[in-house]
Amino acid sequence: MEIKSNINLKPFNTFGIDCWCNYFVQIKTLEELSQLRQNAIFNSNEKLIIGGGSNILFTKNFKGLVIKNEIKGIKIISENDETVIVEAGAGEVWHEFVMWNISKGFSGLENLSLIPGCVGAAPMQNIGAYGVEIKDTFYSLKAIDINSGIEKIFYAKDCNFGYRESVFKSVYKNKYCIVAVSFQLSKQSAVLNTSYGAINDELNKMGIEIPNIKNISDAVISIRNSKLPNPKIIGNAGSFFKNPEVSPEKYNTLKQNFEKIVSYPLTNGNYKLAAGWLIEHCNLKGYSYKNAAVHDKQALVLINKGAASGNDIYELSEYILNKVFEKFKVKLEREVNII
Ligand code: FAD
Ligand code: EPU
Repeated sequence: MEIKSNINLKPFNTFGIDCWCNYFVQIKTLEELSQLRQNAIFNSNEKLIIGGGSNILFTKNFKGLVIKNEIKGIKIISENDETVIVEAGAGEVWHEFVMWNISKGFSGLENLSLIPGCVGAAPMQNIGAYGVEIKDTFYSLKAIDINSGIEKIFYAKDCNFGYRESVFKSVYKNKYCIVAVSFQLSKQSAVLNTSYGAINDELNKMGIEIPNIKNISDAVISIRNSKLPNPKIIGNAGSFFKNPEVSPEKYNTLKQNFEKIVSYPLTNGNYKLAAGWLIEHCNLKGYSYKNAAVHDKQALVLINKGAASGNDIYELSEYILNKVFEKFKVKLEREVNII
């Protein structure tokens, strides 16, 4: 373990923002984390834990210690005829972990194929896609209290998972380093989730009538590749905003004025609106601001045109928030973690 000084963070955030941190360390084992906790630099600096940097926007240099969690390892904790509990180190690449489970025939994560980032960040915002969220199969996680060094196990009931939310994004923000996450997956008679219309369309295109988990994963990968920019080519952090939830009264008013508004009814009676539709209908799809832009295939994604600063992207997001509010009186909320 080596603590490096003055490190450029451009390779460590998928927006590709050129910014610096005072100190940077890669942690590969629990022992290294515990060693790091004894170090004076750890104790006298603000800390930021990162995985793949795919949900972070740096708007300034980070004047502290960036800890890149690279703790690896996948193991089966327990199993019976029907289910298996699989644990992965926080530094495992999420998509590779999903592929590992598919190769073993363990189902439950296939709809979450190709989401960038690492396993440790997945519970932070209860990652979700194509009708599935990790809370559906989450079993537990191990985290180290950054201040005391004490290990704590969190079960689903302790995490307060919601739409792109958990205790780690709210009350416990920057308090714990997640070191391992486990999921309870199915070994037999997998219940496949094809509720998201686009998956069925894609399976039809692929000529598949009775899909297996690999087929679902392939369909999800194909849909994602068709509309989301590859961060290795175009800097981005996926959806920049959450899809907003509105009351039935608000929804009815919007529906009267904007007949084609895209929405989904929720079980609590409220409606979720497609933020991408709201942004597109402010004529902002493809809109450029300084070195940032709204992606021309998916208006919920903001991109770095090459030399954007974090502030270019942040200012663009502020502009979008104001335009959407002006037109629809709906307040968007950022999904990306702003540093
Ligand atoms: P980072 O960006 O490194 O960190 C995110 C947050 O978690 C930060 O606050 C960080 O401090 C904290 N954190 C990271 N690791 C730890 C740890 N070990 N312990 C404690 N805190 C930690 N998300 C979805 O939900 N669904 C999608 O479909 C989706 N699609 C995307 C598509 C693209 C092209 C991109 C670029 C992003 C997408 N995302 C999506 C967002 C992103 O991939 C997820 O939020 C992912 O979980 C972030 O993982 P990461 O390792 O990159 O986290
Ligand atoms: N839409 C538009 N214009 C756009 C984009 C979207 O009109 O430019 C409308 C379309 O009608 C479309 C609907 O919005 O049918 C929904 O779009 P899409 O299926 O692309 O999904 P999304 O709501 O934009 C959410 C998640 C994604 C996740 C996908 C698939 C959020 C904030 N985003 O996007 O997650 O991959 O659904 O499930 O919930 C992420 O969190 O970073 C992310 C990419």
